[in-house]
Amino acid sequence: MNILAIETSCDETSVAIVRDGRDILANAIASQIPLHQRYGGVVPELASRQHVVTIIPVLEEALKRAGLTWVNIDAIAVTKGPGLSPALLVGVNAAKALAFARQKPLVAVNHIEGHIYSNWLIPEQEANEGRAPAEPRFPAVCLIVSGGHTELILMTGHGQYRLLGKTVDDAAGEAFDKAARILGLGYPGGPAIQKAADGGDPNRFNLPRAWLKGTLDFSFSGLKTALLRRVEEYGYSASKPAPWQKSQTAVSDDTPADPEATEEPQHRPATVTYERPVRAVPKSASIAGNAAEVSSFTLEPEEARARVQTPPPARAAHIPYAPQPPEESAPEPGSRTLPVADLAASFQAAVVDILVEKTAVAAAESGAREVLVAGGVAANAALREKMGERLGVPFRYPPLVLCTDNAAMIAAAAYYRYTDSRVYDFSLDIEPNARFI
Ligand code: KG4
Ligand code: ZN
Repeated sequence: MNILAIETSCDETSVAIVRDGRDILANAIASQIPLHQRYGGVVPELASRQHVVTIIPVLEEALKRAGLTWVNIDAIAVTKGPGLSPALLVGVNAAKALAFARQKPLVAVNHIEGHIYSNWLIPEQEANEGRAPAEPRFPAVCLIVSGGHTELILMTGHGQYRLLGKTVDDAAGEAFDKAARILGLGYPGGPAIQKAADGGDPNRFNLPRAWLKGTLDFSFSGLKTALLRRVEEYGYSASKPAPWQKSQTAVSDDTPADPEATEEPQHRPATVTYERPVRAVPKSASIAGNAAEVSSFTLEPEEARARVQTPPPARAAHIPYAPQPPEESAPEPGSRTLPVADLAASFQAAVVDILVEKTAVAAAESGAREVLVAGGVAANAALREKMGERLGVPFRYPPLVLCTDNAAMIAAAAYYRYTDSRVYDFSLDIEPNARFI
């Protein structure tokens, strides 16, 4: 069964085609990161407009790369939530229109469930070698760590979940994003912190770990505040920007930048990447070829501008945080040079410690046969390394491209939902706050 899936819950427009829940035939992703970078976070309305611009080119690319036509598509899946309402609307309406026009069953998928099922997809490397790793075994403990979620879930079968613990305040990815803003490292924060932490001393600053003893819950807001205090000790604060932020306006770490208060954004071209594994795909009439292709295309800026309404004009030019300070930047009088690498490494170590320790306890207590890590933070190298050292059971995580938002994971989850007969009609609507447990 070939499922075509659409994912637009946040800042990636993605369309994928996956066979039987595991074989990725195409996974086209148009990232909007450059569009939101200047605001230090995702601006929902801009995300929505960009999804409108990119959804059809991305859809066409996915079909082209898979070498399939609509005749070969058995169902259409889409993320219904949780996510940003204006962004979800684009994907859900596109999916409904396509399902109606092409007379295909429509399957709605919970985004978090999609992240879990990214562990069912066959990674490109294995696919290239003609291998398929065994499916995850139940019971499995799932650690979901994304920008909006941090949850420990016990999965005893397809669609059978029990919540073991969750964050009581910030999500792990959100904590990374906020820490990156405090350190002036830009958006998205997770990769920036990881990069800055490389070569830093994770033991230099003893940042607090909120163990919330006796529970499998998480808390990261105290850690973020502790980081801010350390930064302030060096003479930097939200009201007194670091030297490299001098010409810019700093904002509080909890305040999203106001896009209305900026100069007119330049709509940068959306880069679309897609991948298709090389491997011995059994030849069928519907598969045109099986050569690997990893490529990208760009929407010309003029084209994008013509199709995107211009946002309101500038009130002031603000950029909340700048990239890492240049080597030569001199500290202001009374300020000391901020040890960004050590702070980033110490922060990352604290987050990783908490995530790994709680997951290890959850796995031991529930008798899990495997641990599955999913969501954007699963891309973190320190987390992966520590999991390997600490866990007593096998664990797996998706390849980098499948950790962050993508439609292949939505297709994988839909496969199990579809075979479970959970098919939706055209009354399907977005669920921005959807829960699946
Ligand atoms: O799953 P995802 O792409 O989107 C949501 O559903 O939220 O996760 C995005 C989050 C962001 O907070 C980003 O900073 C974080 O994942 N992230 C990372 C890394 N790569 C992405 N966090 C830590 N280390 C990384 N390498
Ligand atoms: Zn996500």
